[in-house]
Formats: sequence, structure tokens, C-alpha cells
Amino acid sequence: MNSKEHWKNVYQNKSAEEVSWYQRVPTVSLAIIHDVGLQKNQGIIDVGGGASTLVDCLLQEEFEDISVLDLSPQALEVAKQRLGKRAESVDWLAEDITQFSPKKKVAFWHDRAVFHFLTQSEDRAKYKKILASSVISGGYIMIAVFSIGGPEQCSGLDIVQYDADKIKEELGGEFQLIDERVEQHQTPSGNAQLFCYFVFRKR
Ligand SMILES: C[S@@+](CC[C@H](N)C(=O)[O-])C[C@H]1O[C@@H](n2cnc3c(N)ncnc32)[C@H](O)[C@@H]1O
Repeated sequence: MNSKEHWKNVYQNKSAEEVSWYQRVPTVSLAIIHDVGLQKNQGIIDVGGGASTLVDCLLQEEFEDISVLDLSPQALEVAKQRLGKRAESVDWLAEDITQFSPKKKVAFWHDRAVFHFLTQSEDRAKYKKILASSVISGGYIMIAVFSIGGPEQCSGLDIVQYDADKIKEELGGEFQLIDERVEQHQTPSGNAQLFCYFVFRKR
């Protein structure tokens, strides 16, 4: 099964509240967005946002330029249905991040539990190239991944675990690591997953 079919099955067979990565409120992501001082009119993209409630929270806070990208149109549809008319002010991008051609730059790139699925160095190289061309100079990148010592799979797929040194080496000198936070995520079925959130600033 290829990746697109995997995610289609996931979102067809489980509700948004049942998937292991579900958060009623994405508290750590929101705290980071607030702490870097993102302005309401600055662009933000949620890469691999799926059916996450981050977009709901950003709309509630009156952010004006929000894009949500995901490989799975089914996941985006769940979020759109939930938001109703409010979904009209969001750019929905049913795309593979490793093939994405950005049409505009953003000031904040949000990725929770997507980069860690890129187990092939060629895919990580494509991601980095697209990231570099998508974010304004001085903009922020938040990448949340499973920590070293955390789970070895996510959604039944192999992942790459990271610590600060490993992710810095991966992203290279164009991005400066400015913050790091740890989260013990509680899955809906009651398991704990150790996430690490890395915040970079583009030089
Ligand atoms: C573990 S879920 C995390 C969803 C969301 N970020 C959250 O925290 O609730 C991973 C998401 O990444 C999407 N995804 C996986 N590979 C992708 C790719 N190459 N390009 C875009 N989205 C991808 C999946 O469809 C899924 O919605």
C-alpha cells in the first residue's frame, strides 16, 4: 500500500477523535505560535495538518492567512465539514509535501508528526528544499516529532526519532534552533507518546 492509500484508509476508518495523534486543543503548538509573536496577518501553513483542530483555534484567534496541506483529501474534508462556513477563509491544499510547489511564502511553518515519516534521505532533501523556499527570512518553523526513546512507529508506519542535534544536522545551517519543548501526549486509548517540538528561525 502506498502512503496516500494508507492515509485514505486511516481517515475513512477512524474518526478524527480516535486517531492516536488527536488533541482536543493543540496546546504546545499554540503556545509556540504565541511566543514567537506571529501577527494575525502573517501567513501560517499547517503541513500534514490532517483533521487537526489547530486551524479551528487559529480562526478563533482571527489569524487571517491560514493554509492546511495534507496528502489526504479525506482528512481535509473532515476539518472543512467541522468548520462549516469558516472553512472558506482557509487555503486547503491536498498535496504531498515532498512534491509541493508553494505559491506564496509564510511566516510560520507548522508540522506536527509529518517530517518523522520521511525515512528516505531523498524525501527529507525534497522537504527541506520546499521548506526553505516557503518560509520568509526571519520566519519560524516548528517541527514536532517522536523523541529518541519515544515510539518507533506512528499510525503503524516506521518513523525517524530525533533529538536536537540530529534534527539540527538534518535541517542544516539555514535554520537556527531557538526553542525545544517536550510533550507527553496522551493518545485517546490512554497511551503516552513522547513528542519533541523543535522551533527554528530562518536566517
Ligand atoms: C500523524 S498525522 C498528524 C496530523 C496533524 N499534524 C496533527 O498533529 O493532528 C500525519 C498526517 O500527515 C499526513 N501526511 C503523511 N505524509 C504526508 C506527506 N508526504 N505530505 C503531506 N501530508 C502527509 C497524513 O495524511 C496525516 O494527516
